[in-house]
Amino acid sequence: MRIPSRFRSLLCGILCSTLSADEALSKTQILDVLVVQNIVTELRTAQKQFMPDAASPLFPRPFITAAYAQSVDGKLAAYNGKEEVETTSNFPLSGSDSLLLTHAIRASHDGVLIGGKTLSIDNPRLTNRLWDHDSLKLHAQPTSIVLDTHLNNIQSLGDSMRLKHPIICCSKEAASSCKELPSSVVLLPCRCSKNGQIDLGDMLHKLYIGYGIKSLMIEGGPTLLKSFLDDQLVDCLCITIAPKFLGSGIGVSTNKGYHLPVSTTNFYIVGKDCCMISVIR
Ligand SMILES: NC(=O)c1ccc[n+]([C@@H]2O[C@H](COP(=O)([O-])OP(=O)(O)OC[C@H]3O[C@@H](n4cnc5c(N)ncnc54)[C@H](OP(=O)(O)O)[C@@H]3O)[C@@H](O)[C@H]2O)c1
Repeated sequence: MRIPSRFRSLLCGILCSTLSADEALSKTQILDVLVVQNIVTELRTAQKQFMPDAASPLFPRPFITAAYAQSVDGKLAAYNGKEEVETTSNFPLSGSDSLLLTHAIRASHDGVLIGGKTLSIDNPRLTNRLWDHDSLKLHAQPTSIVLDTHLNNIQSLGDSMRLKHPIICCSKEAASSCKELPSSVVLLPCRCSKNGQIDLGDMLHKLYIGYGIKSLMIEGGPTLLKSFLDDQLVDCLCITIAPKFLGSGIGVSTNKGYHLPVSTTNFYIVGKDCCMISVIR
């Protein structure tokens, strides 16, 4: 069922007016599910309508959704301690309701991609464990994918890594010289660009052709997101803004300022956070 977000608070008021606090809470959660369902429907429609074609840069490649949470002052993670080098884990930034949204977005893509530093700091699972309200059950569990050029991050985690059967994109040199990796890991050797990092075009092509990844969620961190924005490779922005100020920390930026050719932008309230979905054409 599709409920326009502007009717959400009205509906919530009607549902909650005759209920106890506990019952009202569960009704609010039901409304969050409906809002998330709306977002998922919008995303899937965009994937069908705007699947990259021969006119798109780096065709053939997956439909790319950049999905992340940021504070009101535009930070995805705070600095950890005195030195402005290490950042904190992203977990406490957005609210628990937004976690449902993250899992639903994961479930709506063939693959979920993170940068090597996010792997080593957050050690995430990147699975969908919360979203089971989908009658289509299209992509229940996405493939997890990590960009780790020299395989340093995955090696430092060792057996404590929580990803199951991830694809690790690395340089050809790292793939040929690496000896100790968990057997469940699939290595995808990729070309490197001039800055020594994975060439995104080569990686996207290999993921699409070799692994059937036709839709890809980029979950962060900011360095990885910047690379995709610099190459103008984002087809949909899904930004959750949490009512917090982080002060110092890292945010998403791009070298080249440019106007996104946005087809639609919608705002949704998820718990106490605000989620902006911009479909780019
Ligand atoms: N708020 C959120 O939604 C959110 C989401 C995710 C993460 N985070 C937070 O973000 C922080 C980590 O972000 P980060 O910016 O430091 O690192 P990151 O984006 O997670 O990872 C960047 C690393 O990926 C590797 N990489 C390989 N090819 C690349 C390419 N083409 N472009 C970009 N990177 C490439 C590079 O390391 P190598 O050269 O070693 O390969 C690079 O240093 C953590 O604190 C995490 O908690 C927040």
